[in-house]
Amino acid sequence: MKKKILITGGAGYIGSHVNKMLSEEGYETVVLDNLSKGHEEFIKWGVFEKADLANMAEVEAVFKKYDIGAVIHFAAFIEVGESVKDPELFYKNNLKNTLNLLEVCRKFNVDKFIFSSTAAVYGMPVYTPIDEIHPKSPISPYGRAKLMVEEILKDYSDSYSFNYVALRYFNASGASIDLDIGEWHEPESHLIPLIFDAVSGKRQDIKIFGTDYDTQDGTCVRDYIHVLDLAEAHILALEYLLSGGKSDCFNLGNGKGYSVRQVIDMVKKVTGKEFMITESERRPGDPSVLIASSKKISEKLSWKPKYGLEEIVKSAWQWYRKKEKLI
Ligand code: UFG
Repeated sequence: MKKKILITGGAGYIGSHVNKMLSEEGYETVVLDNLSKGHEEFIKWGVFEKADLANMAEVEAVFKKYDIGAVIHFAAFIEVGESVKDPELFYKNNLKNTLNLLEVCRKFNVDKFIFSSTAAVYGMPVYTPIDEIHPKSPISPYGRAKLMVEEILKDYSDSYSFNYVALRYFNASGASIDLDIGEWHEPESHLIPLIFDAVSGKRQDIKIFGTDYDTQDGTCVRDYIHVLDLAEAHILALEYLLSGGKSDCFNLGNGKGYSVRQVIDMVKKVTGKEFMITESERRPGDPSVLIASSKKISEKLSWKPKYGLEEIVKSAWQWYRKKEKLI
C-alpha cells in the first residue's frame, strides 16, 4: 500500500492548499489538526485526524493507524505581535509541539520532514534580495521559535538518519483559483484581506503602518507570493526528499517588492472600488523592505513562481467575496 503524507495544520491557509494540490497529484494525505485556528471545511481531501501535537498519545495513535512516508509540518501560531505579547504560548505551540512531533517521527522511523519556516528568521535585512545565507537574527519569539526548530532539524539530520527541507516563506497571499479554499484568519492581520475589509465596509478604513520608511513611496515593501506557488514548492520538496534528497533550506518569494501603497492601488484596480486610507504610525518590528532571492530553489528544485501581484489580488478578492457571501 502507498505510504501516506501527513500534513499537520492541514486545516489552515497554506496547509489546506498543499493538501489539495497533493491530492490532485495522486498523493494520499492524512490531515492532523486540532482545529484551534484552522477550518474543518478546508479539509476536503485525504483523511482527517483531529489530534493535538501537545498530546503525544494522540499523535502516536495517528502514526500507528497509517503508514506515513513523510511529514509536512504547518501547525503553528502565526501572529508575530501575539508572540511578543505571549512568548510562552509560541514556544509551547511552535517549538515544544514540534519536538513532540519529531520524537514520534523517530519512534515510527519517519525520516522525511518538510518544515514551514519564514522570512522572519532573518530579522532586519542587512541586504536585499535576501538569500539563504543572509544572517539570521529574528526579532520576535515567532521568528526565534522557527529558527530554533530549523536548528533542531539540522541537528537531527546530522546525527540521525533523517532529512528535512525548511521552506522560508515571504508574504503568502492569494487563494485557490477555483475558490475552494483561501485566506481566513480570525482575527485578520494580513494586509490584503484587511484592505478587502475596507472595500466591503467591514472596517472603516485601511491603515498604512508607516509612511516615512526609506522606500520609493515611504511605505513598507514586501515580497508577495501566491499560495499556489508555495504549494507547488512543497510538492517539489517532497519529491526531492522521496527521491533521496538531502536536508536543505530554501526561500520562497517572487523576488519582486511591492509597497503597501502599491498593494492598495492594485486592490483598487482589481475591485474597481474606492475606500478610506488612513496614514498611521509604524507597526513595531516591521522591516522597511523584505524581498527574497529564490535563486537557490529555482536552481536546485526547478521551482518558478507562476503568479504575480495582480493574480494574487484577483484570486484573493474572489475568495473574499465568496467567504463574505458577497457573490
Ligand atoms: N500593513 C499595513 N496595514 C495593515 C496591515 C499591514 O500597513 O493594516 C503593512 C505592514 O506594516 C507590512 C505589510 O503591510 O509592511 C504586510 O503586512 P502583513 O501583516 O500582511 O505581513 P508581514 O510582512 O508583517 O508578515 C508576513 C507574515 C508573517 C511572517 C512575516 C515574515 O504574515 O507570518 O511576513 O517577515 F512572519
